[in-house]
Amino acid sequence: MEIRTVGVVGAGTMGRGIAHVAARSGFKVRLYDLTPEILNNSMANLKALLEKSISKGRLTKEAADDILERIEPSSDFNTLSESDFVIEAAVENIDVKKDIFDRLSKMVKAETVLVTNTSSISITEIAKASTKPEKVAGMHFFNPAEVMKLVEVIRGYYTEDQTVKTVFEVAKKMGKEPIEVKRDTPGFVVNRLLIPFLSEAMQLAEEGVASIEDIDKAIKLGLNHPMGPFELADFSGLDVVLSVMEYFYGEFGKSKYAPPLSLKRLVAAGRYGRKNKKGFYEY
Ligand SMILES: NC(=O)c1ccc[n+]([C@@H]2O[C@H](COP(=O)([O-])OP(=O)(O)OC[C@H]3O[C@@H](n4cnc5c(N)ncnc54)[C@H](O)[C@@H]3O)[C@@H](O)[C@H]2O)c1
Repeated sequence: MEIRTVGVVGAGTMGRGIAHVAARSGFKVRLYDLTPEILNNSMANLKALLEKSISKGRLTKEAADDILERIEPSSDFNTLSESDFVIEAAVENIDVKKDIFDRLSKMVKAETVLVTNTSSISITEIAKASTKPEKVAGMHFFNPAEVMKLVEVIRGYYTEDQTVKTVFEVAKKMGKEPIEVKRDTPGFVVNRLLIPFLSEAMQLAEEGVASIEDIDKAIKLGLNHPMGPFELADFSGLDVVLSVMEYFYGEFGKSKYAPPLSLKRLVAAGRYGRKNKKGFYEY
């Protein structure tokens, strides 16, 4: 089946970016979220981004109009039924995702592949909530989805080869570089490596081994990373980082995944980023 129409569930940070990439790559997009207000906000955000690209000479007005024309936002779930491929990027909550996959699988065509952009939930568990788990896989984009090249394609327990092949084809058509994650494990590849790295950086700072600024500097200049671990944790949101650490700790049960106390304290205090205008928050 030729994939022409891509459904995107959730119009938040990731859904909006994914809808943008899909439309830019020539797919028709059905963008769904719970309310017209959320969708209006999301489309306004996208328009502002496109206008910025036009003003910087990176995009023509015609190309921007084409992108916007290809996206059809709707708060009616049924508009997703004609999709040839659906990417779920709703809130990270297992019950919400199970409900979406249950409903989607009952209304799309038999051959339609359904993927989830979850960062941490088991693909197999989400797939089991659908009526066709062999057509379900993980398709993990990175933020910002418009910019980041990598897509992790994750096999759930039931995912068939043809499904993986289709996800690879869609990712490539979107200009992405897919990698295959052969087993459905927490964090897949990137976050499995990233989370202990962030945690170790926070523990180094807790122990007073080096300042936050110097740890970031060390990683940028010593390993050539574009961002240090604290900048990256800030960018992702400390509450998000904490919840992934807690999830890993629960799943693997190993102390190396236990969230650092400093991170717990900051999130409990409502600090979702360490950085303020003067620098990083003390802790
Ligand atoms: N933000 C990141 O850096 C990042 C990176 C990779 C993957 N992810 C994953 O992408 C998904 C979305 O994350 P986000 O950062 O875009 O979150 P977000 O909070 O920005 O957006 C989530 C959207 O889901 C919508 N939503 C809630 N319930 C829904 C439902 N029942 N049906 C449809 N939409 C619903 C919300 O209205 C909201 O617009 C999560 O699974 C997250 O783990 C996030």
